[in-house]
Amino acid sequence: MSETASRPTAPLRARAEIDLAALRANVRTLRARTPGAAFMAVVKADAYGHGALPCARAAIEAGAGWVGTATPEEALAVRADAGVPADVRVMCWLWTPGGPWREAIDADIDISVSGMWALRELTDAARTAARPARVQLKADTGLGRNGCQPDDWPELVAEALRAQAEGLLTVTGLWSHFACADEPGHPSIAAQLALFREMVAYAEQQGVRPEVRHIANSPAALTLPESHFDLVRPGIAMYGVSPSPELGTPADFGLRPVMTLSASLALVKHVPGGHGVSYGHHYVTPGETTLGLVPLGYGDGVPRHASGTAPVLVDGKWRTVAGRIAMDQFVVDLGGDEPEPGAEAVLFGPGDRGEPTAEDWAQAAGTIAYEIVTRIGSRVPRVYLDEGE
Ligand SMILES: Cc1ncc(COP(=O)(O)O)c(C=O)c1O
Repeated sequence: MSETASRPTAPLRARAEIDLAALRANVRTLRARTPGAAFMAVVKADAYGHGALPCARAAIEAGAGWVGTATPEEALAVRADAGVPADVRVMCWLWTPGGPWREAIDADIDISVSGMWALRELTDAARTAARPARVQLKADTGLGRNGCQPDDWPELVAEALRAQAEGLLTVTGLWSHFACADEPGHPSIAAQLALFREMVAYAEQQGVRPEVRHIANSPAALTLPESHFDLVRPGIAMYGVSPSPELGTPADFGLRPVMTLSASLALVKHVPGGHGVSYGHHYVTPGETTLGLVPLGYGDGVPRHASGTAPVLVDGKWRTVAGRIAMDQFVVDLGGDEPEPGAEAVLFGPGDRGEPTAEDWAQAAGTIAYEIVTRIGSRVPRVYLDEGE
């Protein structure tokens, strides 16, 4: 995958341009909206498809003091990157039995613990390590996914404090995650906040002195100041995508989409009316027309569910995917226009050149824009743009 900071010199079949200047500007905008809170740049899943390491570096340049990942492998890769300063904190929250605990302790990663099994494995590994593990205890305040249930919290807190007294770990954080922060007014928001305050207060009464307490993802960072506590953890907003169309557009929040996905037309040809197009012939040309072949498909992460519905900008006009999206390619009906082979087809981008957005593709595919950008696969080269802000 390309990590160059310039435009490609040779034409590419397809490309995902990643505008790092936009990412930095988004981080600054989000920081201005969350004064008083530290900023964790969430770069899991290869930075939602944008490239974990370049995005982590850009976010740090714009003031992120923390980087967040799901898997330990992702966290270790961030820590191993020479462009990430040693004083930037790296946190990781999705662990399974076997760790790698010791590698994470040695790499100074903040390790999330949601249950007793993990605390036991972690403390075992910490006994042979040269430094105490950094541990963040995760509370399930209502998401019902990862995190410790309120009934089990006293035991987890007590055990963590015992291990801390032994010098095996330091509890650096208390944290949780929202279920419905993207639905303003949802009753679970206030309920989760209240329970989070209670679970934090309990742990503090027992003697935990966390550096950071945190629960806010992008929608909470954008719309719920009472949820910011000591640190916010935005992912999708950093990439310039709104967490949900109901909350607003990226522009409503001063954010700019970072990824533009485009391809070079592989073929333009005339066909008669009544011609079936792509597998299953779900599109039949209504009359004599031209077809353009876009060399991207579900093998690149373009969702097959968007067959027949998603928009593509070709030669200044919105065209609709004609028929099925196949593994490597799909077709657009160009209505008689004859762009040259190699002409640019833009699937989505910021929208200000008239192109569709990831949100348009999400609506066409019946999913969320998170999935649209994150699923763009490794076969599509990332081209990093880093022009002035
Ligand atoms: C624990 C945790 N925190 C923060 C985030 C960032 O969420 P968002 O992309 O909605 O900002 C995620 C992503 O789902 C997450 O799993």
